[in-house]
Amino acid sequence: MRTLVTVGRGGTGKSSFTALMAKAFVEAGKSPILLVDADPDQNLAEMVGIDLKEAGKSTIADLVVSTFIEGGGTTVGVPPAQRLESRIWENGLYEGQQFDFLGVGTKWVEGCYCMPNNALKGALENLTKNYEYVLIDSPAGLENLNRRITSSVDDIFDILDHSKKSQDHVCRAVRIINEVDVQYKNFYIIGGYRFPDELGKQAENALKFKYLGKIATDPQLDDCVLNGESLINLPNDNPAYISVKKMLQSLNYI
Ligand SMILES: Nc1ncnc2c1ncn2[C@@H]1O[C@H](COP(=O)(O)OP(=O)(O)O)[C@@H](O)[C@H]1O
Ligand SMILES: [Mg+2]
Repeated sequence: MRTLVTVGRGGTGKSSFTALMAKAFVEAGKSPILLVDADPDQNLAEMVGIDLKEAGKSTIADLVVSTFIEGGGTTVGVPPAQRLESRIWENGLYEGQQFDFLGVGTKWVEGCYCMPNNALKGALENLTKNYEYVLIDSPAGLENLNRRITSSVDDIFDILDHSKKSQDHVCRAVRIINEVDVQYKNFYIIGGYRFPDELGKQAENALKFKYLGKIATDPQLDDCVLNGESLINLPNDNPAYISVKKMLQSLNYI
């Protein structure tokens, strides 16, 4: 099992990148694949042509709340992680032809809910064992990923945004790593669709992380997102898709 996480600020093209990675894995015949939307923006589902509500699926946050908080959260009997895991299989997991999907959701009751957080981590760690690839779309701050989803991943892809100074990107990426207690094997930087490609080398030298290239700016992709259409159905010669596919090929993923 390999876990790949996409991070970056809102609007950098994280979710689009995750959707295009999914497309590349699907086309390469990789399976089984699980997509996890951990971003409160929650737009990954739409980008891969899934309507969770229509499919009658709840987000993980809703399941945590209904199982442990509204439901009283008895700790006797079936262990919490196991209880939650079976509810996720039943009511949370969207099972598709090409990949499965989980939405983390936003309905968190803040405070110290160590039990649900640990139960969730336990449940997900067990559930994800069934997949060969787990792709996670995550917001910039990774602390929730660590607290609730997983403490160890294989690859982190940091999508860099445009900015006047390349130094800004560098600082942000370093901050992300320092903030996160998440164990990772590889940390890669990627130029978002608005990132000046010529700053890639500079960022690579300063950060000592491999720069995988830039995601091509692509009006067709932008149109798809605007119209709520699935990026999985983009033609295989779509420039943004090709740029993402090349990155994955360079890492021998596909
Ligand atoms: N390669 C691209 N070319 C053109 N527009 C893009 C590209 N990637 C993303 N966008 C646009 O940028 C906006 C944010 O993309 P999104 O993937 O939702 O970013 P994030 O998940 O980081 O918030 C969307 O309107 C999307 O259409
Ligand atoms: Mg997003």
